[in-house]
Amino acid sequence: MSARKPGSRTGWRELVLVVAPDVADDAAYWLTELGAEGAWQELGVEDRGSVEIRAYAAPKVDADAIVAEIEKLAPGWLRAPALVRPLVERPWAEMWKKHFRPAEVADGLWIARPRARVPMKRGDVCVRIEPANAFGTGLHGSTRVCLRHLRRMFGGGRGARVAKVLDVGTGSGVLAIAALHLGVPEAIGLDADVESVREARRNAARNHVEKRIALVAGGPETVTGRHPLVLANLTAPTLAALADVLTARVERERGTLVVAGITRAEEDDVRRLFVKRGFVAGAPLRDGDWSSFALRRAPARKTPAGASKARAAKPGRAKPGAASRGRR
Ligand SMILES: C[S@@+](CC[C@H](N)C(=O)[O-])C[C@H]1O[C@@H](n2cnc3c(N)ncnc32)[C@H](O)[C@@H]1O
Repeated sequence: MSARKPGSRTGWRELVLVVAPDVADDAAYWLTELGAEGAWQELGVEDRGSVEIRAYAAPKVDADAIVAEIEKLAPGWLRAPALVRPLVERPWAEMWKKHFRPAEVADGLWIARPRARVPMKRGDVCVRIEPANAFGTGLHGSTRVCLRHLRRMFGGGRGARVAKVLDVGTGSGVLAIAALHLGVPEAIGLDADVESVREARRNAARNHVEKRIALVAGGPETVTGRHPLVLANLTAPTLAALADVLTARVERERGTLVVAGITRAEEDDVRRLFVKRGFVAGAPLRDGDWSSFALRRAPARKTPAGASKARAAKPGRAKPGAASRGRR
């Protein structure tokens, strides 16, 4: 993230949206997707069940167009006319200090700024993140569900069972760092956005895990090999575009792929994508409208001795899909 301080002289503007609490995460997500920066919920501003979401628009970003697009995408979200005003107040970093509070995002798994006091219990772990501009403060539902998967898989120090995690679309590095804190020995974090990779490196150092993580600019095609756990908090269209290469990165035996960044409406399509490629989908974990599931490689079917020869002699009786599963 740049160290620039948004302010009136630099032409930055502040956007203020008033929405229902159940769409607050999504409103913040769309603000940043549409070009605003640093969307956050104003704490303590709750009026008859509404919350205030604020974000910043850089000088070259059309703040009014962002508001118009949100009104078009989600008619009815805004409970009051959106405000767009010149930003004249505190510097950026101070804003984050005020609004990014330690949060226990999964049982015993915390996210906090580097020096924040965290009321951890014995056995809890804390990922220290400086929010900056990379996605992944743990405040978004799609990140939280991934963290809950990691907690389920690796709680109680069980991370050491898995040798390595590949985190595709690492953003701030939050998921890879959480996996390392839960005991996974090594991680690779990939991101198409070079600035996110830089930020993830800084966060890795803040968490003293920089020697255990490789952070690389690029997508899953950038690396080779297969991994016991692949995390992909992306979007449904990106998961569809990357389905083959993600599949090729997952270990054939007992490998797991966690997909997220999916809305409930997209669940079935994404599940089908990967079931077709030989995975078995677990039950979804949900946070508001955000959904995620762990996909495991279907176990190789045990056949009685000689059965494969018999099938080879009668190819017409092979189960559909059996051949393609065998190739991966
Ligand atoms: C929704 S954010 C997730 C960040 C973080 N992993 C988390 O869970 O909070 C998705 C990230 O994926 C990155 N991304 C999008 N498409 C990608 C691709 N094809 N290859 C690698 N990274 C990608 C984006 O730059 C963004 O940082």
